[in-house]
Amino acid sequence: MKSMSKEIGIDLGTSYTRISVRGRGLVLTEPTVVAINKITGEILAVGNQAKEMLGRTPENIVAVKPLKDGIIADFEATRMLIQNLVYRVMPRSLFYKPKIVITIPSAITDVEERAVEGVGYKAGAKAVYLMEEVMAGAIGAGLEIEKPEGCMIVDIGGGTSEMAVLSLGGVVIENSVKVAGDKLDKDIVEYIRAKFNVLIGETEAEEIKKQIGTASAAMTEEKVSVKGRNLSTGLPETVTVTTFDINQAMKDSLEIILKTIKTTLEKTPPELASDVMGKGIVLCGGGSHLKNIDRYISEQTGIPVFIAESASECVARGLSLALDNIEVLKKSVKTKKG
Ligand SMILES: Nc1ncnc2c1ncn2[C@@H]1O[C@H](COP(=O)(O)OP(=O)(O)OP(=O)(O)O)[C@@H](O)[C@H]1O
Ligand SMILES: [Mg+2]
Repeated sequence: MKSMSKEIGIDLGTSYTRISVRGRGLVLTEPTVVAINKITGEILAVGNQAKEMLGRTPENIVAVKPLKDGIIADFEATRMLIQNLVYRVMPRSLFYKPKIVITIPSAITDVEERAVEGVGYKAGAKAVYLMEEVMAGAIGAGLEIEKPEGCMIVDIGGGTSEMAVLSLGGVVIENSVKVAGDKLDKDIVEYIRAKFNVLIGETEAEEIKKQIGTASAAMTEEKVSVKGRNLSTGLPETVTVTTFDINQAMKDSLEIILKTIKTTLEKTPPELASDVMGKGIVLCGGGSHLKNIDRYISEQTGIPVFIAESASECVARGLSLALDNIEVLKKSVKTKKG
């Protein structure tokens, strides 16, 4: 008889939700956005479709990002999102309830943790397990976490930058900061407002960041035009921004991420820190695609820095590997405290 896999892994990220199914790997990536009819409470769109509505919805529709800084900010919208996406990858989930493993950030409180479990059950799971994002990220990035040697992973996502030094299959030191891709977008919006008196949307800011953004001063100066609204006249206006502008805009936030990495290393036991210095730091998460971020961190710490393959998908890939290998899963899921 054909056995049916009913184990699902969800990387519930601030920007993207990625779903892996046991035996099938990563099957779905959608923006963590839900569009809801305010009057009826009905869900109108989820993921890409909903993201297109962000900032341009009529009065009775709201497009919400239900996670903030890696934490559930809107429980009901998150439930709708998970239920909808799980149903998409497993239409039979209505009858055969799946077991769901959901990743959580390390700085999560007990109350927030219970909210994640609750949302999984409400979305129709038979059982909900939690796994730390950094652990999944390290596994997905291919780090040899089982060895008695230190290795370091830094996951720069949309809402948070999470990092950990691991050894012997466990997290030794972890640290996180609520500064990541979203904050860089906000920095760009703010910089353009201050310099040109023009307000642009966060989606436009994100596009600029991806196109010409760089973490360390670039050799070549690129330019890009962006449309916004002049705050004095209220009229549309196009401004031209340069690589230098964007670098200036993001400078302080990048420094905060860097400082968090340095603090983490300072807290790491010397033997493990010396392993990390030798082997280097591995970056994952969408933010690690920012140009020159590896060079910036490497120059400022004096430690080699590598970007993981398919960096945005490391956490989801780590989840798939854990789903496929029950021993890894048993060791990695978070056991109840106290
Ligand atoms: N080429 C790029 N250059 C710069 N930033 C990028 C690039 N591609 C993606 N990003 C950024 O990566 C971020 C999303 O990363 P990721 O998918 O890892 O986040 P997430 O897992 O949803 O968030 P979190 O883990 O913080 O909850 C976004 O801020 C996005 O703008
Ligand atoms: Mg993430």
